[in-house]
Amino acid sequence: MSEHKPAAPALSGATPEVPPKGGSDRAPRQLAEFWNQRYEAPEYAYGTEPNDFLVAQAESLPPGSRILCLADGEGRNSVWLARQGHQVSAVDIAERGRDKALKLAGEAGVAIDAQVADVTRLDPGSACWDAIVSIFLHLPPGPRRALHARCAQALRPGGVFIYEAYASGQLGRGTGGPREAALLPELEELLEDWPGCRIEHRFNGERLIREGQLHQGAGVVNQIVARRNP
Ligand SMILES: C[S@@+](CC[C@H](N)C(=O)[O-])C[C@H]1O[C@@H](n2cnc3c(N)ncnc32)[C@H](O)[C@@H]1O
Repeated sequence: MSEHKPAAPALSGATPEVPPKGGSDRAPRQLAEFWNQRYEAPEYAYGTEPNDFLVAQAESLPPGSRILCLADGEGRNSVWLARQGHQVSAVDIAERGRDKALKLAGEAGVAIDAQVADVTRLDPGSACWDAIVSIFLHLPPGPRRALHARCAQALRPGGVFIYEAYASGQLGRGTGGPREAALLPELEELLEDWPGCRIEHRFNGERLIREGQLHQGAGVVNQIVARRNP
């Protein structure tokens, strides 16, 4: 761990002052049960290879970067980042996801800090991450905006937020992602989500996705790279 960096916050606890209001009709426990069930099988639902947009974006991160992976599921992205020599913390609401992430890390011979937490209640700290990664996390608008604003604060100056998730145009396609319109934003809705950050990359459109059994085929996604102002 580099000495010049402030300590990363403990991520396992939720912040009671930020209650999960504003949209999701699922209580956190129900949400965790849904995802635990999905991750019950020994196979990895989204595969064990990292998301390819993340791979392309992470090339510019210096080795040893301190990275937080939001809603990391079964760990394919955090484990890949750790294999690149980064210091990685991951959170997900599903215990079974955390367990499989730790197994994947063990098999790869790397260490990750994997915690169970509801990101809508997560305090990611202040100015302590070189990068925060959000891949296929679909939240209702209120909790999503609030989380992104907290993450903007949690990036160190110059740090970067890397986001990809399905967009409104994905509704009804059947190649992956939620079936609720409220969880599938337009690109324009996202652009104000990271106060104090510059949007370096924005994309809305179709691309071919092959990730495990559940993300398969042409999908309409939003991508954002937001960098905290120095
Ligand atoms: C489609 S999966 C993507 C997993 C991972 N990011 C990947 O790309 O493989 C969505 C993940 O979001 C997690 N998730 C959904 N809502 C969450 C919340 N409020 N807090 C933490 N994790 C959440 C789920 O448990 C699930 O692992």
